[in-house]
Amino acid sequence: MNLTLHVWRQRNREDRGRFVTYEARDVSPHMSFLEMLDVVNEGLILRGDDPIAFDHDCREGICGTCGMVVNGRPHGPRRLTTTCQLHMRSFKDGDALWIEPWRAGAFPVLRDLIVDRGAFERIVQAGGFISVSTGSAPDGNAIPVRKENADLAMDAAACIGCGACVAACPNASAMLFTAAKVSHLGLLPQGQPERRERVLRMVGAMDEEGFGSCTNHGECEAACPKGIGLQFIARLNRDYLGAALATRGDGGAGKGGFG
Ligand code: SF4
Ligand code: FES
Repeated sequence: MNLTLHVWRQRNREDRGRFVTYEARDVSPHMSFLEMLDVVNEGLILRGDDPIAFDHDCREGICGTCGMVVNGRPHGPRRLTTTCQLHMRSFKDGDALWIEPWRAGAFPVLRDLIVDRGAFERIVQAGGFISVSTGSAPDGNAIPVRKENADLAMDAAACIGCGACVAACPNASAMLFTAAKVSHLGLLPQGQPERRERVLRMVGAMDEEGFGSCTNHGECEAACPKGIGLQFIARLNRDYLGAALATRGDGGAGKGGFG
């Protein structure tokens, strides 16, 4: 396959950036998208040009570092697929591909296709933990968890923190990510002691980072490579409202409910 790539090149945060066109020749349909970029980069290096900078780590759809926008869609054209798991057979010979970084004020571009997703780290730092008494590991069966809650918690925990939801949202909202992180702890018994404080702090951190509001477009769910559903945003809203009201009523001393 031969492809024309229009790739966003930006030297640093201050640079205005621009698209630069490259020809990708003899691309195997079996290559992953990142392997295709590796081959393009080898050519650039041989020519003495700067390689295209992009984030990646696991290349197995697990770590969440590899996001980029391909032809206007975060992670490219295949549903439930990270960029590293996207293969060139998803494209046709002669296609033109426009490749850009995530576009969101809270994710500043560091270089080319790499953005700073530190804002996500700070949301998790604000409340993505539980407190446990020290001692030996408890028996896994000592704390019963309803099957429905266990399944939902696992679904929420599938979030890899890639940021595609933010990139897809017209408001650059981080509600789907934050909802997944709040829910996977809030659905389990171990997450109850800090349940109220967690949701209040994580939503507060999200707002401080400058992410936009959710106005129910649903683009986040459509772009999410891990199938995180809008139901978690509804759960986050319920949790937040309950925590805000309860905290106002009891000075923040009470514990959240479980369900
Ligand atoms: S909710 Fe989905 S799209 Fe958003 S960060 Fe998590 S895995 Fe990525
Ligand atoms: S490189 Fe880890 S999810 Fe793509």
